[in-house]
Amino acid sequence: MIEKKIKINKHNYLSNRVIVSPMCQYSSIDGSPSDWHYKHLSNLILSGASMLIIESTAVSKVGRITKKDLCLYNSTQEKNFKKLIKFLKSIKDIPICLQISHSGRKGSCNIPWVKSGRPLNKNGWKTISSSNLKRDKSWPSPIKANIQDIKRIISEFEKTSVRALRAGFDGVEIHMAHGYLIHQFLSPICNKRKDNYGGSLKNRIRLSLEITNKIKNKILNSKILGVRLTGLDHVKKGINIEESIYLAKKLKSIGVNYLCISSGGIVKKTRLNTKKQAFRLEIVKKIKKELKKMVIGTTGNLENLELLKKNLYSKYLDLAFIGRPFLKNSQWLYEALGAKVIPKQYEKAFDKKIN
Ligand SMILES: Cc1cc2nc3c(=O)[nH]c(=O)nc-3n(C[C@H](O)[C@H](O)[C@H](O)COP(=O)(O)O)c2cc1C
Repeated sequence: MIEKKIKINKHNYLSNRVIVSPMCQYSSIDGSPSDWHYKHLSNLILSGASMLIIESTAVSKVGRITKKDLCLYNSTQEKNFKKLIKFLKSIKDIPICLQISHSGRKGSCNIPWVKSGRPLNKNGWKTISSSNLKRDKSWPSPIKANIQDIKRIISEFEKTSVRALRAGFDGVEIHMAHGYLIHQFLSPICNKRKDNYGGSLKNRIRLSLEITNKIKNKILNSKILGVRLTGLDHVKKGINIEESIYLAKKLKSIGVNYLCISSGGIVKKTRLNTKKQAFRLEIVKKIKKELKKMVIGTTGNLENLELLKKNLYSKYLDLAFIGRPFLKNSQWLYEALGAKVIPKQYEKAFDKKIN
């Protein structure tokens, strides 16, 4: 079942069910891809996955997580992304999407190998969020976004999508999970607003729907629109499954082509146990049960091929978004898909006989 192709929209098929999950590299040069990205992504494009989602890319300077994030808000960055996509497509022509994001109160952070999860003390920037609640005791307070800020943020997402398509991407994935800005509006844990963007579920999801609508209007039907959605906050009074099902249905009605269900990240400590195999499977099953016709995947410890085959065969999982296994061994999928995905130039290495 891993190898079964799937229609993602009227114009795009994926040749199998494994997708490269977006993974931040904190290695950009002024927001543009660096040599590291060429090396890293050319490994991943040959991995056998049917689609590549490029790491979380900021829609504005304030929306970066760290100073080394990829960004797509100016023409130099657009030009450099265009070069990268041309290069990757010349190696292998599979759909490549860009994950677009705003970090909100999780921005102005050190890069992980300098000080993991710690705010920049020097030369940081003032972050913005749904409320002025801090991410954590030791973090500074963000500014609470006013209506002008919200309008600007929606337009930044829209402009970045347009730039991504002009640069040659096959689509975009909107990041609505992991405690970043859109999630900061969705979650009652962090959204304490009293206006149209806070309080009731309808108000908390307003920003996510406005952004999705704007992008959908700009995206041609031939392009892919995905969302990384949070299924659960895993904390008391956080987003629950009924709420995420409600939002998922709304996103489907706008014309989103696929959902990748993630969870957690709105605060540091949650009940999410990331040690378990396929730890989000139960969440995705509940969502898929209510949205049978939508293409839905999940992410998190899906490395066990037998388990993956079994679950991709069930009616509850369409796609597997794989991250770390591909970093450890970019040929990880060759075992499952063999000749279908091994590049011709490498075939000899996998032949039994040597001649
Ligand atoms: C180095 C690294 C960077 C990541 N960056 C992102 C990111 O940019 N956007 C995102 O949504 N998830 C990000 N993630 C989460 C992965 O996409 C994936 O969902 C997670 O690692 C679980 O899948 P896995 O068990 O297959 O690694 C990152 C994970 C890793 C290990």
